[in-house]
Amino acid sequence: MFEGNRVTAHTRSRYPIFQSPMTWIARAPLVTAVSKAGALGLLENSIRDLSVTKREFADVRAATNAPFGVNLPIRYLQMDPKEEDAIIGWLLDQGIHFATTSAGDPTRYTRRLKDAGVVVYHATATLRGAVKAVDAGVDGLIVEGAESAGIRNPEEVHTFALLQAVREAVDVPIVAAGGIVDGRGMAAAFALGAEGVTMGTRFVASVESPVHINYKRAIVDAPITGTIMTDNPPRARSRGLRTPYSVAVAEGTRERALRSSTIEMLYVQGDVENTSGAAGESAGLIHDIKPVQQIVDETIKGFWREIDRLAALRR
Ligand SMILES: Cc1cc2nc3c(=O)[nH]c(=O)nc-3n(C[C@H](O)[C@H](O)[C@H](O)COP(=O)(O)O)c2cc1C
Repeated sequence: MFEGNRVTAHTRSRYPIFQSPMTWIARAPLVTAVSKAGALGLLENSIRDLSVTKREFADVRAATNAPFGVNLPIRYLQMDPKEEDAIIGWLLDQGIHFATTSAGDPTRYTRRLKDAGVVVYHATATLRGAVKAVDAGVDGLIVEGAESAGIRNPEEVHTFALLQAVREAVDVPIVAAGGIVDGRGMAAAFALGAEGVTMGTRFVASVESPVHINYKRAIVDAPITGTIMTDNPPRARSRGLRTPYSVAVAEGTRERALRSSTIEMLYVQGDVENTSGAAGESAGLIHDIKPVQQIVDETIKGFWREIDRLAALRR
C-alpha cells in the first residue's frame, strides 16, 4: 500500500505513522499497541535510567514482533554522560534498527548510531536545525510545527510553512509533526512534502495510553483554542492545556511546576486544574478516546479517502 515510501522502507512498519516519544507515556503498553497496529511505536528514554530502558524494551519485545523504535533525547541524556553511554551502548547491543534523536545537537549521536547500522531520524522545529541534521548524516527528519505539544523552540514556525521550507531545502524523507490526528491531516502533510506523520496528543487520548482518564477527557473536551504557550526557562517555551494553572503561569502570577510533579499530579492523580498536560493544537480536533488500532486504521482509511477525493478533482 505504501510501496516506494521511504519512511516505511526505513522503519519496516506497515504504515508511515509514528507515535511521538513522550516522557512516561511512550512506554511498553502504548508502544506495543501502536506497533501491533502497523504504525511505529517509539520508546522514550528521557528519564535517563538504564533499568527503565531495559525493562520497557524487554516488555515490548516480549509482547510483539512488530518493528518499534527508540527515541534518544540528546539534551536530557547528555546531562549524565556515563548513563548516556550505558543506555546507547545497551540499545546497540540489542540490535536496534531504528532510532530518533531529539532536543539537541544531532552530531552527538548520528555517527555512532549509523556506524552500528541504525537508521536515524532527527526531530527538529526549525529549518536551520533540519539542514544541520542532514549535514550530520541523518537518514530522515521529523519536522515539528509550532502547533505541536510539549517543549517548543521559541523561534519555530507552524507546520504548513515549515514543511514546505524544509522540503525545498533537503532531500531526505520528512515525517510531519504537529496538528495531525487523522487521515485528512496526514494527506495534507503529504501534499506539503512529508512521507510520514507522527502523532502525540492523539495517542495520549487513546485507550492504551497510561495517563489518568481526566487528562484524556481534558484533551477530548479542549476547544481549538484549548492550548496555551508558556515560558519554559531558560530558553524554551511549552505548549500545554489551557487551565487555571497554565494561564496563571503565562501571566507570571504562578511558578512553573517541575516535570516530575506534572507526572504525579496529572498523569497519576488526574489533577487537570493545577497542571498543564502537554497537548498540541490538535487537541481541538480530538473528539473521542479510542483504541490505538482504531486510530491507526481510521487514519489510513481517511488518508486514502482524501487522496481519492483530491485525485477526483482532475476528472
Ligand atoms: C504528553 C506529551 C509529552 C511529550 N513529551 C515529549 C518528550 O518527552 N520528548 C519529545 O521530544 N517530545 C515530546 N512531546 C512532543 C511530541 O514528540 C510531538 O512533537 C508532538 O506531540 C506533535 O504534536 P501533536 O501532539 O499535535 O501530535 C510530547 C507531546 C505530548 C503530547
